[in-house]
Parts: sequence; C-alpha cells; structure tokens
Amino acid sequence: MAASAEDQGGGGRYGEDVFRPEQEGEDERIDYGALAYDEITMARLRALGAGPGWRCLDVGAGTGTVSRRLLEEAGVDSVLAVDRDVRFLARRPVPGLEVQESDITAPGFVTGRFRLVHARFVLMHLPERERVVANLAELVAPGGVLVLSDAVDLTNERTPDTPYTEVMRAMWLGLRAGIGTDVSWVPSCPQLLRGAGLVRAAAELYVPPLTPGSPISRFWADTWERSREAMLATGTVDDDTIDAALLYLDSDECAALSAGMLTAWGWKPGPAE
Ligand SMILES: C[S@@+](CC[C@H](N)C(=O)[O-])C[C@H]1O[C@@H](n2cnc3c(N)ncnc32)[C@H](O)[C@@H]1O
Repeated sequence: MAASAEDQGGGGRYGEDVFRPEQEGEDERIDYGALAYDEITMARLRALGAGPGWRCLDVGAGTGTVSRRLLEEAGVDSVLAVDRDVRFLARRPVPGLEVQESDITAPGFVTGRFRLVHARFVLMHLPERERVVANLAELVAPGGVLVLSDAVDLTNERTPDTPYTEVMRAMWLGLRAGIGTDVSWVPSCPQLLRGAGLVRAAAELYVPPLTPGSPISRFWADTWERSREAMLATGTVDDDTIDAALLYLDSDECAALSAGMLTAWGWKPGPAE
C-alpha cells in the first residue's frame, strides 16, 4: 500500500531539524530567495487585484518581504503575517502589519476571512499539506483568492549529470527523508486548489537564471550548507561532492537549470464582500 503524504519523512520538522531560525544567517538565506522571486510574486499578486481594500493573510511569512511589499507597494489595507517563529517578522514593523506566531498545521490557527491568503515555499515542507490547503481555502473570503508558490524540480531522467544535479537530487532526497519536504506534487497544485473547492484555478512558472553570484545561486549554496547533514545521510553524496558542487555553482563552468517557482491560485466562489 502506498504511504500517505502524512506518513512521509522521518518525523522531523522545518525549523527544528533543518533551517533553524536561530542558526546565524537563516534570515539572509530566506532573503536571497526573496531577492530572486519577490518581483514575480508581487507582479502576480497585483495582477490578481491585490490593492486597497484587501485584508491579507501571509502564512509562513519568513522575513516578511512579501507581507511588507503588499502594504507598502500594493497598498492593501492589512496583512496578518503568520510564522512558527516570528523573530525576523517582528524586526521591522510597518503600519498595517500584524504578526502572529503560530504553527499553521494546527487547526484553527487563525480566525476570520481574508481577500488574499498567500503561502510561498511553505507547503512543500509540510507533510500534511493537503489538509493545510483545505484549511487555507476555508480562510478565503467569498470572491477572494488563495495563492500558493512552491518549488518545481525541472530535472528528469534525461538531464545530464552535473555537480549541481547530483547535489540537488541528494538535497530533495535528504529533506524528504528528514522533514517530509516534497515537491513532486507541486505541478498538480491547480488540481489541489480545485479539490479544495476553489474555481478558476491556474498557475505560472518562473525559473531564475542560475548565474554565478546571483541571489538564486547564493540561495542554493546556503541551502546546501544547511541541509548538508540531511544530504550526507542519504548516502548518495559525500562532503567532497557537495564542496565540488558549491565551487561549480560559483564558476563559469556552471550550466544548469534552477528549480523553478510555480505559483498557483484559485478563487473562492461568490461576490467579494
Ligand atoms: C522557505 S521559508 C519561506 C518564507 C517566505 N514565505 C518567503 O517566501 O520568503 C518557509 C517559512 O515557513 C515557516 N514555516 C515552516 N513550517 C511552518 C509551520 N508549520 N507553521 C508556520 N510557519 C511555518 C518557516 O518558519 C519559514 O519562515
């Protein structure tokens, strides 16, 4: 019998076994991701209508770059930013930003309804993602939108082996075994949203160019360092392989396609309130 999503992973959790917020530089790692993706995220959120009058919920908000940009650039009325650890969110308060420390897998972690519910690079790390998506869909007000962004691995069996692909494979494998991270479902995200009762579901994909020194390149380098133990535990790579991949990533030899960001959205039926 196939294991259910909730059975996957070694029982570890994001932020406890890897990507611990108290580990120096974790905020910088999240911000490298933000530098690579924020413009794309904000363009999509604006295109979906985020602006004055909108009450928004940003879950797993990290350092809060999207939450703040929604307020400061898109002009939404308010953002409730939720994370299991709010040390980075609390550092720079802005008018309209409310911060809440909660585990979003807990039932009823927040009450109320929001015109926008947003989660970026969060569900991929949660083994109980189907249940969490159903709960997030419940939090969307009629006429509102749920927007989910997660990573998509664009390699397949024909992708030539490079130090990059070798270590990325070990990273996905190690994170899956350790904390239940899974990106295999991400291309089906529009169907997941439809299954949660949302309509007019759609998605788009963005792949940042993997050039030496770019934010995405630095993001992967830092992510590999922080998941080194999980990668080694797979037995598919050793320290030398990881070190070679780090050098490759920062060199003119690098010729690889980064994992992309798939952004999917779906609307709650009914007129906007
Ligand atoms: C990869 S970071 C993404 C941060 C931000 N959304 C972004 O895209 O810049 C994942 C975030 O989700 C948070 N997170 C992970 N599991 C969580 C949970 N069960 N409840 C609340 N937050 C969680 C982490 O603390 C972290 O801040």
